[in-house]
Amino acid sequence: MTTPILGFSKLSKQEKIEWVSQHYTNNPSEAKKILERYWNSENDVQKLHDEFIENTITNYYLPLGIAPNFLINDKMYAIPMAIEESSVVAAASKSAKFWLDRGGFKTKVLGTEKVGQVHFIYSGDFAKLEKFFFTVHSKLLEDAKSLIKNMKKRGGGVSKIELRNKSEELHGYYQLHCTFETLDAMGANFINSCLEQFAKTFKQEAQDFHLFDSKEKNIEIVMSILSNYVPNCLVKAEVSCAINELNIDTSTAPLEFANKLLRAIDIANIEPHRAVTHNKGIMNGIDAVILATGNDFRAIEAGVHAYASKDGQYKSLTHASIEDDLFRFWIEIPLALGTVGGLTNLHPLVKLALEILQKPTAKELMQIVAVAGLAQNFAALSSLITTGIQEGHMKMHLLNILNQLGATDKEKVEAVHYFKTHTVSHSAVVEALEKLRAN
Ligand code: MEV
Repeated sequence: MTTPILGFSKLSKQEKIEWVSQHYTNNPSEAKKILERYWNSENDVQKLHDEFIENTITNYYLPLGIAPNFLINDKMYAIPMAIEESSVVAAASKSAKFWLDRGGFKTKVLGTEKVGQVHFIYSGDFAKLEKFFFTVHSKLLEDAKSLIKNMKKRGGGVSKIELRNKSEELHGYYQLHCTFETLDAMGANFINSCLEQFAKTFKQEAQDFHLFDSKEKNIEIVMSILSNYVPNCLVKAEVSCAINELNIDTSTAPLEFANKLLRAIDIANIEPHRAVTHNKGIMNGIDAVILATGNDFRAIEAGVHAYASKDGQYKSLTHASIEDDLFRFWIEIPLALGTVGGLTNLHPLVKLALEILQKPTAKELMQIVAVAGLAQNFAALSSLITTGIQEGHMKMHLLNILNQLGATDKEKVEAVHYFKTHTVSHSAVVEALEKLRAN
């Protein structure tokens, strides 16, 4: 067993690479070569990346692709997507083009409320705690004034602080449940700083509250942290068209297509195994834009999946209806995003991605991201209920298989041509390549 290392973070980058290659790889010199190959040759870019996190040894690349032709509220967008899965950008582009010819996507932000909580334990009379809360409320805001000042100037700040009694679910547990407006910032640091200040004031003031006895004075702050569950930071994106315009696939009539798509959503609504995969497909689109624009995809993932379970069962995030002759397909999801602060001012590719998106506000980005999710789900369902997913998926995966098999550029061109009219599978590609090489 390798002996633990102390002070790893104090080592130089070279020393870290040396240590990890020596102790944890089979071929240290090869490992070092791979790590170095991914360094950026421009020192300032590399330094920037080195400083994003602790113990950086190299960069981890993902492809950045563009899905063009998105018409959103009558404005054209080309959407940058950072993702490794081969079919995602192609699927988004296909949906974008399909809906471009049918009026495009319509979107609306339904709310922008962010949430944070101070979790605390109080042993005593709730009526007294409530009295204390009303007494201390203005002091909470007063003490956090310097933190809130700038956000307030721009029109945001703390929207509400509520006292919530959770003691029936967990003995002695209460919260300050706080809501915020953070405008174009995701606001994590702002929210957490405010919460920590609220907690400090709350605890301090409790010690002097005249109605509390000595036990009640002793409020225990457990933690102060934002919540990634933001059901009121909500956006809706929708497409609609006459049923006869759903001429996706020559072998599926438009009405049959519409009915099957509704069925697919019905299934996801009652069957969590399917709903998770259904929503995973949506997140293919969402995460790719979130990553490209420097937002926190773990926060978004956590919040979105919690929202999918808001009715007590994990369900589809998309919905569809047929009313008379009209097919409607929409998504409603919580997205707490930022277009200022964090990586958005630092990472050159993030800055460029935001420029490509025409420098959106956080509200605009919410709408673009929701559209990317809806488009992705439309593409996935369209394939699933017609040809099946593998046809398109494997076509997109063809180059990966060819690369795995070490195909030359010439072989790749010939194989791509051949598979225009043949079904792609791993064994079929191996066979085709063997044949090419035998000639
Ligand atoms: C694959 O990454 C995503 C799909 O499985 C989504 C779905 O099944 O709806 C195709």
